[in-house]
Amino acid sequence: MAKILVIHGPNLNLLGTREQPLYGKTTLKAINQELSRLAKNNSIECIQTNSELEIINTIHDAKKRKIDAIIINPAAFSHTSIAIRDAFLAVQIPFYEVHLTNIFARETYRHNSYLSDLSIGIVCGFGPQGYYAALNAALEKFS
Ligand code: DQA
Repeated sequence: MAKILVIHGPNLNLLGTREQPLYGKTTLKAINQELSRLAKNNSIECIQTNSELEIINTIHDAKKRKIDAIIINPAAFSHTSIAIRDAFLAVQIPFYEVHLTNIFARETYRHNSYLSDLSIGIVCGFGPQGYYAALNAALEKFS
């Protein structure tokens, strides 16, 4: 049985209404429900926060809780946060990076992520399917 933690970063609580042509109509609640269904008998916890501090503390805590893998959409913090990068370096928990949109087809300031080179894999541009693909990969590797 794998212990998976899903972290949704800032503004992702607004999925379903936020910039619909870009992010689609699926709500975060619906994504989390599907993740829980796909996880079957594995342990999965999904959290969303708009706070960089809370993301860092959650990553630190994941070490103590013996989380096997993290799936994270760091949202805008991907492009700014050396602190979240350092948290992953500190705990050495394997993680997958997910973006709903293709960040490389958007503004140039979104092309760099401070996390991607540390991740097992990055999936972007597939909408909610990206989360499900990351979960399937994590379950195959860690359960
Ligand atoms: C995002 C892409 C980021 O650039 C943006 O700041 C987000 C969402 C995505 O899922 O496509 O908030 O991470």
